[in-house]
Amino acid sequence: MKTFNVLVVGELNVDIILNKIDGFPKIGKEILANDLNITLGSSSAIFASNLSSLENNVAFLGKIGEDNFANIITDSLELKKVNTDFIIKTTQHKTGLTIVMNYDMDRANVTYPGAMEYLLEKDISDAVLIKAKHLHLSSIFLQTGLLTDIDKLFKRAKALGLTTSLDPQWDPSEKWNLDLEKLLPYVDVFLPNTEEFKFITGSTDIQSGLNKIKPYANLVVIKDGENGAHLWDTKKLISKVAFLNENVVDCIGAGDSFDAGFISEFLKEKDYEKCLEFGNITGAINTTASGGTTAFENIKIIKEIAKTKFSYQL
Ligand SMILES: Nc1ncnc2c1ncn2[C@@H]1O[C@H](COP(=O)(O)OP(=O)(O)O)[C@@H](O)[C@H]1O
Ligand SMILES: [Mg+2]
Repeated sequence: MKTFNVLVVGELNVDIILNKIDGFPKIGKEILANDLNITLGSSSAIFASNLSSLENNVAFLGKIGEDNFANIITDSLELKKVNTDFIIKTTQHKTGLTIVMNYDMDRANVTYPGAMEYLLEKDISDAVLIKAKHLHLSSIFLQTGLLTDIDKLFKRAKALGLTTSLDPQWDPSEKWNLDLEKLLPYVDVFLPNTEEFKFITGSTDIQSGLNKIKPYANLVVIKDGENGAHLWDTKKLISKVAFLNENVVDCIGAGDSFDAGFISEFLKEKDYEKCLEFGNITGAINTTASGGTTAFENIKIIKEIAKTKFSYQL
């Protein structure tokens, strides 16, 4: 018997968000922010929290320090009923942290990756993998310790009978160093957004990117912002328009919420069009409240938003 539907492997960090700042920071001077918010950041955590709110049994594996920020992370995940038993705490590194300076719709971020860069492939044992039906990994380029051996992890997961998914997310180094030919055969669902897909495949458009990876890719789901999303089912491309939200609060975590909706249906073995539609609705729900998890408080609230804002029966 499996204990968890999904094991999420990913980056963990705290966001310190400064709002209502008196102008731009200047070196050698001090300015004030009139509002402060300290929350769990990281797209892997948004995915795990929202997948749990969609009534899946989720466990998290990541690396954090042994500091106060680490407690914010585990407390926040546990509040969303995400199991934190496999999160590795180390005294050698500090918990990752992002300072966000918000200026209306724009922002300036400074990130210290810390412990997340030191999670290694060998830290994820077979004994932990077999506890889950599905492995999801997000933000591979932020997890530099894992990057070179990522194909080994997915190969192991498949050999142990898990289904798998990967959301690569943006590469801050913009090198896009990922051996897709080696990796994608072991990834059941590949979940980049359009920009990431083009860079990762070295292509100028979706179709030519798909032509390159066709020989070895499985399902490819490409998120396309307010246009919705596209799915390559290994034979043809299916596109579905978004449940357009005209009053977007912000798009933080929309892609992660899309992933949570898609994978939630994928695990129930729903057909791919249904998974795509569900991803679009959870992506849209995400945009109705600030940050990545606010709209996903619990299943009752999620259903309510789907019904009232998008006339969608969840
Ligand atoms: N304005 C919007 N209205 C409704 N849905 C949206 C909107 N923007 C994004 N979405 C949904 O969120 C999904 C993910 O957004 P996208 O920006 O493509 O991903 P990422 O956050 O990874 O960059 C989209 O595929 C779509 O379903
Ligand atoms: Mg994304």
